[in-house]
Amino acid sequence: MLGPVILAASRSDRIRRLISAAPVTKQVVDRFIPGERVDDIVPVIRELTGRGLDVTMDVVGEDITRPEQAAAARDAYLELIDRLKELELGERAEMSVKLSLFGQALDGGHELALANVRPVVEAAAAIGTTVTLDAEDHTTLDSTFAIHDELRRDFPQTGCVIQAYLFRTEADARRLAENGSRVRLVKGAYKEPADVAFQQKAEIDKAYVRVLKILMDGEGYPMIGSHDPRLISIAQELAHRAGRKLDEYEFQMLYGIRGDEHLRLAAEGHRMRVYTAYGTDWYGYFMRRLAEKPANLRFFARSMVSK
Ligand code: FDA
Repeated sequence: MLGPVILAASRSDRIRRLISAAPVTKQVVDRFIPGERVDDIVPVIRELTGRGLDVTMDVVGEDITRPEQAAAARDAYLELIDRLKELELGERAEMSVKLSLFGQALDGGHELALANVRPVVEAAAAIGTTVTLDAEDHTTLDSTFAIHDELRRDFPQTGCVIQAYLFRTEADARRLAENGSRVRLVKGAYKEPADVAFQQKAEIDKAYVRVLKILMDGEGYPMIGSHDPRLISIAQELAHRAGRKLDEYEFQMLYGIRGDEHLRLAAEGHRMRVYTAYGTDWYGYFMRRLAEKPANLRFFARSMVSK
């Protein structure tokens, strides 16, 4: 299992410096993060939506140390939403937000993150779209769900993410599978200890199916965040059995991963949303993508050697 090793190594400052400074890094990063500034990303949004795909936009960054950085992240989202206004995509272009980037881990972080995310949710609602709160490591989730509950009082369409690898997730899914609730189910991308999370792929996949069933049988709007072909066909089957129409759930995948599958599902009439990350602070996001697939790491290592 290379993934957990990569995730653990990615916390080292030495490795961060090494990877960030490598001359070939940029071209590999571009596969997953197609731009650094709003001006780079607007054409990407146009292209994806022009092909019949929807998007959820993520300004990359995490592990901030100062409240000013959180305010800058909030402003980056507000700038993006301002630009989205002119594209008139409504809910076809939504936002994904990591509360750690909004200050959640700082002193008084719960209140700070809520204060920073609220204007983003308001601005999104004003252009007819919404925000989904990403799930980060398990120690942050009680705070994230409390912020989600708080935001949903005024903006019930605010989404959240649950991670199949966590033992707590079936209970969270039951609580969240209610009318109007938008829930993205993913396997989980962080290195979590064995007392809170399944460690084996087979166990995580089984948990994913159990949780998906709860969401499909419930009253909410399930968002299937996975590239796994087996889970995608199980999701289609469960949706069919639950009597859901095509607009009563959606698929989501990451930009740069299984692009043909994005188009295939969209062509079948499914709503297919591409999670598109952009920005300069790409390190954490990029390392999780490397950890998910050893072949990515081999590709990266080969390009470093062949330069
Ligand atoms: P799995 O890892 O088993 O991959 C299935 C297949 O997909 C692989 O065989 C390969 O073909 C392809 N694939 C998957 N990952 C790849 C990669 N990095 N590079 C190349 N090919 C790859 N996690 C989290 O903890 N919190 C969150 O908020 C989110 N948000 C989120 C949004 C969306 C839209 C997606 C799709 C995923 C997330 N994730 C996430 C990440 C998620 O937890 C998980 O790590 C990845 O989706 C990989 O898991 P899969 O379900 O794709 O299966």
